Amino acid sequence: MHLHKYEKIWLIFGGASLVLFLAILGFGAFYLGTHPQSHGVTIDPENVEANEAFQRENLGITQVDDDKYIVNVVASAFNYDLGSDEDGNAVSHLEIPKGSTVLFQVVSTDVVHGFNVAGTNVNMMVEPGYISSMEVQLNKAGEYTLLCNEYCGVGHHMMHATVEVVD
Ligand code: CUA
Repeated sequence: MHLHKYEKIWLIFGGASLVLFLAILGFGAFYLGTHPQSHGVTIDPENVEANEAFQRENLGITQVDDDKYIVNVVASAFNYDLGSDEDGNAVSHLEIPKGSTVLFQVVSTDVVHGFNVAGTNVNMMVEPGYISSMEVQLNKAGEYTLLCNEYCGVGHHMMHATVEVVD
């Protein structure tokens, strides 16, 4: 079989483009530790309280070691339950000391929600029936918006809270 010179050039160009594209895709997908949800830890969405982490008094932020925190969240249309403060008011603002390691554990009691701390690589899909978790180190002080980025109904845009990383 005889190939014309230009035909050959274009074949090589096409092949090289494909390899380059796959390489970029592969790199981009895992860059910054982003990974598909594969933990597969299940929970009964109708009775999340059966798991100690999601009992009301354990929601929100808890210090577990010097620089280690756990944040437990129950997402439902259209709210992130971060527990209550001493006066019984719903918490919608978390303060986390800069440089600490935080394990976010989030469950949904109804539909699929998102859990994105904008500006960080905390970006999870929260499916009813599963515990979505992610551990990160927050090294940059500032106020971050925690928001839902999975359309979950008419109040989707109201699902947000703030995470403040303090010096
Ligand atoms: Cu919850 Cu959108």
